[in-house]
Amino acid sequence: MSQRCVVLLGMMGAGKSEVGRELADRIGYQFLDTDKLIEKRAGKRISKIFQEDGEPAFRALEREVIASLEGSAGKVLATGGGAIMDPANRSAFNRLGTTVYLKASARELYQRVKNDSSRPLLQTEDPKAEVARILSEREQYYEDAIITIDTEDLSSNEVVDVLIDELAKRTLGDG
Ligand code: S3P
Repeated sequence: MSQRCVVLLGMMGAGKSEVGRELADRIGYQFLDTDKLIEKRAGKRISKIFQEDGEPAFRALEREVIASLEGSAGKVLATGGGAIMDPANRSAFNRLGTTVYLKASARELYQRVKNDSSRPLLQTEDPKAEVARILSEREQYYEDAIITIDTEDLSSNEVVDVLIDELAKRTLGDG
């Protein structure tokens, strides 16, 4: 079995962390969440970084954390939904291993995140419209992933089943 990484992409609410943790468990890889690495580096929560330092500072930290993963192997990475907008991050993801887009409609994503106040980008007057707007901006990049899984009607368990099948077809992690 190859030892490159599995890089999970997708919007807030796509299930990257849950799916990532379970996938890592089942294939014996280490799970890493870029948001958690950013919080560790900054010494504060994502919402605090946005609030005190602003989104550009958050994006700079995000780029640093992702660059620092260069050369990693045997890991499942859950990435922050907005990281895909940065070309340096996109190249880094492609070098790290197999990119996987966990896809869901704006309607479904909104249902999954509407009661979660931890996401600064959704603290707006019309979070539903914001989810749709952000998705339309990012989708073209997400769609470039090597594997796309439509998660709309699947439990995270089922997503992991499908993903393991898809990875096996490509000799796990070879891209
Ligand atoms: C963001 C998504 C968040 C986090 C930050 C910005 C985004 O991560 O990185 O709040 O731009 O979509 P999740 O995708 O894990 O929610």
